[in-house]
Amino acid sequence: MIRFDNVSKRYSEGHDALVNVNFELAAGEMAFLTGHSGAGKSTLLKLIMLIERSSRGQVLIGNRVLDQVTRSQIPYLRRQIGVVFQNPHLLFDRNVFDNVALPLQIAGMSTREQGRRVRAALERVGLLSKENDSPLALSGGEQQRVGIARAIVNKPAILLADEPTGNLDPALSADIMQLFQDLNSVGVTVLIATHDIALVEQMQRRVLTLDQGRMTSSDALAEGAYT
Ligand SMILES: Nc1ncnc2c1ncn2[C@@H]1O[C@H](COP(=O)(O)OP(=O)(O)O)[C@@H](O)[C@H]1O
Ligand SMILES: [Mg+2]
Repeated sequence: MIRFDNVSKRYSEGHDALVNVNFELAAGEMAFLTGHSGAGKSTLLKLIMLIERSSRGQVLIGNRVLDQVTRSQIPYLRRQIGVVFQNPHLLFDRNVFDNVALPLQIAGMSTREQGRRVRAALERVGLLSKENDSPLALSGGEQQRVGIARAIVNKPAILLADEPTGNLDPALSADIMQLFQDLNSVGVTVLIATHDIALVEQMQRRVLTLDQGRMTSSDALAEGAYT
């Protein structure tokens, strides 16, 4: 589903953010991406989202080689990828429903279909009863769940998260992780970047580790490891 073949990324200032990265994430898999601050986690996710382009090597999503995706094709590709950030950047002058509907409005979907999809997404994150509320009335954990609902409202095959629990306490972080597990269990391919090693260890999933731009481990979880 996602494959990196010898991918390097050098920013224009000459800094090597990723060096010869190789890994493959199968469709339906869920994995964590860890590493120190500055290790290259966000850069790796940005290459998948086509926010940045690789300097060398190839990134593939399904059988699409991202190098060959033109600018005008990027919005189409992005619709297949949901993204969750540390801060959900909700619009506080709109209610929860409208925040989640935003990607569908941009895509020009009918109001009726928007309603159906937004409510399905809100139900999945447990916030259907809050659809008319202002995001300001929600807790930090609930705001992050609205961000996740917005990320999945297009029913993407892939969900990427960049430090999604960075602003949350451990209990709320565990709730958000459970939500990612639930989404993965219905077939979504999930990749979560986080430097929270304790959280990663609790989850018992495959871990990809970056160290100064190099992937130092990308092993599939051995049967019985952690148990
Ligand atoms: N737009 C950019 N221009 C130049 N250097 C960048 C840019 N974005 C990130 N970097 C550098 O690339 C390295 C990796 O950054 P990043 O991918 O954000 O790491 P992480 O998410 O693991 O903290 C860091 O040294 C960072 O300073
Ligand atoms: Mg980062």
